[in-house]
Amino acid sequence: MKISKICCIGAGYVGGPTMAVIAQKCPHIQVTVVDLNEARIAAWNDSDLSKLPVYEPGLADVVAEARGRNLFFSTEVDKAIDEAEMIFISVNTPTKTYGIGKGMAADLKYIELCARQIARVARDNKIVVEKSTLPVRTASAIKSILDHTGNGVQFQILSNPEFLAEGTAIDDLFAPDRVLIGGEDSAEGQKAVNALADVYANWVPKDKILTTNVWSSELSKLTANAFLAQRVSSINSISELCEKTGANVNEVGKAIGLDSRIGPKFLKASVGFGGSCFQKDILNLVYIAKSYGLNEVADYWEQVIIMNDHQKRRFAKNIITTLYNTVSGKKITFLGWAFKKDTNDTRESAAIYVADYLLNEQANIAVFDPKVEEQQILTDLDYLDTRSSEENKSGVDVTADPYQACKDSHAVAVLTEWDEFKTYDWQKIYDNMLKPAFVFDGRNILNKEELQKIGFIYKAIGS
Ligand code: UDX
Ligand code: ADP
Repeated sequence: MKISKICCIGAGYVGGPTMAVIAQKCPHIQVTVVDLNEARIAAWNDSDLSKLPVYEPGLADVVAEARGRNLFFSTEVDKAIDEAEMIFISVNTPTKTYGIGKGMAADLKYIELCARQIARVARDNKIVVEKSTLPVRTASAIKSILDHTGNGVQFQILSNPEFLAEGTAIDDLFAPDRVLIGGEDSAEGQKAVNALADVYANWVPKDKILTTNVWSSELSKLTANAFLAQRVSSINSISELCEKTGANVNEVGKAIGLDSRIGPKFLKASVGFGGSCFQKDILNLVYIAKSYGLNEVADYWEQVIIMNDHQKRRFAKNIITTLYNTVSGKKITFLGWAFKKDTNDTRESAAIYVADYLLNEQANIAVFDPKVEEQQILTDLDYLDTRSSEENKSGVDVTADPYQACKDSHAVAVLTEWDEFKTYDWQKIYDNMLKPAFVFDGRNILNKEELQKIGFIYKAIGS
């Protein structure tokens, strides 16, 4: 089976970049990305590539090459479904905010809506690919909806989780560690798996394309994210111990990372992990374990989240106690709001929670982030529902210039590890701040000796 037309439902952080790369690498395949959100589609179609809805290094070049040739962005969902042989589902699966499983389980309503839409529109056989991260056995729910349409159309459901990390999405897609494809253990299922493997084989070496059953593939994605998040919480737990004992978490991280069994990656202590995946996927894993009565398994993984929440709270508390136990009426400057560098994504960013704690203590917060807009920052705070929008607006001042943001501040807090923060004129920042001038480096990226020489009181994580 050769695929010539692909449709992807959902033009977000996963669907957009993934489909752009498939289109670039497979000029013989027509790729149409559809979304209900008209503004988002318009932004993907904007002739000004700086207006793409997702900021990712290298993405604009890929879109520039493929868009209009074999890559299309559209709101005509039915038409794209009808024409495609293979349909990727790449819609959001947020944590449920209501009913059973509230605060833990993944909300699958958008997935179900997609399945129903595909069932309604499809007139010939289709391969449906789960790209969104989903609870184990979601494929059987999708299949059940699709198989009850009564119009004789045959569907094959594949699980093909995306492992890209934001900020490095294009490199990750160009050279993935592996591509995972889960399919049904039947002749038809294997045909579908091979069809998708052939798409990736246009640029991914065959030995990196791994095929499994559907449930292993779904669970592998949750497990990968849980393991990665666990490493961050593990090193963050050690960071607190370092602060008490005189050890330095950077040195500990380096020393253990040189052990080839542990490896050097994901050992950077921080103000806490964020992003749309880690927390959501662990909560989901916890919920699934509980639903099978596996309480010890659930408790084990829940601890990763508990540690992460503690790390964010601890960072905020440290600012308050260091600033003589009150931040009321004091200006605190946040450098960074995104959940990591090189992205404009702010979902679950530690900055949101740290700001929330400090606003409770009546701090005035100034924010500078090179890629995040003021409206997003206010929306993030409003979403927590801790105080009114008006109060958030009056407590937070978003500035387009980092030096202006730091002017007359009591303290600067680094919340995101943007490279540019390292090259700022820190003498100039110091000169314009109130004294004593504090820096709380939530990412351990600044030069401690240099800052101390200027006169800053410098506080890092884990030393
Ligand atoms: C993650 C997974 O890496 C990716 O495979 C999956 O597809 C989606 O979830 P992402 O959330 O984009 O990707 O970013 P990631 O680089 O994993 O970082 C997650 C969070 O952990 C960030 O807030 C980051 O700052 C933090 N982190 C990461 C640390 O605090 N320390 C580290 O050593 C590494
Ligand atoms: P992710 O990080 O998983 O890509 P995003 O929230 O960035 O998540 O993107 C998901 C996209 O899916 C959103 O742009 C949303 O509008 C879109 N979407 C959700 N449900 C549907 C649907 N039924 N049809 C089309 N698009 C949808």
